[in-house]
Amino acid sequence: MANSAYYGGRTAGKVNSVHHAIVIIGFDALKEIILTTSLFHTFKDSKEIKSLRPLWQHSIECGLAAKRLAWVFRYEAMDEAYLAGLIHDIGRLVIQQYFPERFAALKRQTKGAGEEIGLEREFLGMTHAEIGARMAAQWNFPETLIEAIAHHHDGGWQLNPQLGRILFYADQFVLGMFDFQKMLDLFRQDGMNYPMNWKDEELKKAQDMLQEEISKASSMLDSSQAPNN
Ligand SMILES: [Fe+2]
Ligand SMILES: [Fe+2]
Repeated sequence: MANSAYYGGRTAGKVNSVHHAIVIIGFDALKEIILTTSLFHTFKDSKEIKSLRPLWQHSIECGLAAKRLAWVFRYEAMDEAYLAGLIHDIGRLVIQQYFPERFAALKRQTKGAGEEIGLEREFLGMTHAEIGARMAAQWNFPETLIEAIAHHHDGGWQLNPQLGRILFYADQFVLGMFDFQKMLDLFRQDGMNYPMNWKDEELKKAQDMLQEEISKASSMLDSSQAPNN
């Protein structure tokens, strides 16, 4: 991966030891890559691997956005925010992989984003948010993360509203429901604010960093899938 295009091709073919790779990649990015890659490996036998790409891409985008929002709002556990974004729609993946017929029927009937949850309940008796939360519980993830996933479409979290909100808005932001400024306003209405001393310049920098992170999702996806190719 340190040799891949994700790192701009600067190091292509030059990194030949684990030690050097860690220096290039850095520990934080390494943690993200390990998390992302191990999640791909969990589903590596899926026959649907190609058609799952948009979902993976959305998940990584959401993880990267959640991590950057955690930084903006001084939420300390940035890793947890990334993980929440990465796995929040894992229930969708389960539906697509294990109930392909019902998934196809669901897709045919869903006209707007708001309808999806109701139809899932009708077709499967559970929503993808509830399935994802059950999986996170099975994997022994912390309660706060399980709750954030369970309520990523209804905002009904209580244990850790900060994490819940970061995931909720990161998801909607990467889906293009609103722009950066509107997102800041929504956070403010909910009682969360960026640092007081930030001026327009700092805000612009934060916005650029957020966009830059999100734009990396596709190459991160390619790098993380590399071992399967
Ligand atoms: Fe979702
Ligand atoms: Fe989502």
